[in-house]
Amino acid sequence: MRKKIVAGNWKMNMNLEEGLSFAKTINQYFDEKPSQKTEVILCTPYIHLNGVSEIVKKGKVALGAQNCASEDSGAFTGEISAGMIKSTGAQYVIIGHSERRTYYHENDALLNKKTLLAVNNGLKVIFCCGEVKEERESGKHLDVVRRQLQDGLFSLSGSDMSKIVIAYEPVWAIGTGLTATPEQAQDMHHYIRGLVKEKYGREIAEDLTILYGGSCKPSNAAEIFSKPDVDGGLIGGASLKKEDFVAIVEAI
Ligand code: PGA
Repeated sequence: MRKKIVAGNWKMNMNLEEGLSFAKTINQYFDEKPSQKTEVILCTPYIHLNGVSEIVKKGKVALGAQNCASEDSGAFTGEISAGMIKSTGAQYVIIGHSERRTYYHENDALLNKKTLLAVNNGLKVIFCCGEVKEERESGKHLDVVRRQLQDGLFSLSGSDMSKIVIAYEPVWAIGTGLTATPEQAQDMHHYIRGLVKEKYGREIAEDLTILYGGSCKPSNAAEIFSKPDVDGGLIGGASLKKEDFVAIVEAI
């Protein structure tokens, strides 16, 4: 059965105290909702992982990082490895977010390395893909996403592919207030599922969770999530406010 997921991507927000306090609030809210079926993931900055892990340990909320190093260990000053993330108790890591691709020049080959390291260290990966505005306007969006998946992800074995969640995030919609229409999201998600089916077969494609991300908010979440190939969301700005985040989770 395909899992429904809503993941909050805190990005570079909240100091340690604020983050732990916010995680407590979110965890408590969902603990009091035993019927809640959607998996809720908090993707926090590295410094919060250990503390949030303690908070969500017995609860229903899962934990993820927003990036990991492209090497396993060693002399890479300032980097955090997939194994270190795993050791905090986190289960997920976001790889390939467009902010990493753009600001830190992470290309498909590097993201492929990170993905393999994450999976080999027992993490599940939320692998992001998506086109920029000019690529959408010139009709190249499908080709761009196909290349990102082929070069970043499709070297994985079938059993590793089942540890992947794909997030489609049109770059022109991230933090801009512009959202893909439910039809644009559905078309791309359907295309992505088709690519996975071609490569890995029907069962893996049908079980794959594909999230939409990009200015998802309480007012548009239900409509986007109602599409058959949209299995939840990766939420940036709206994941920083309890009311908004909870409303998005409950929109599924
Ligand atoms: P946004 O960000 O919801 O603030 O547009 C989404 C994301 O970057 O994951």
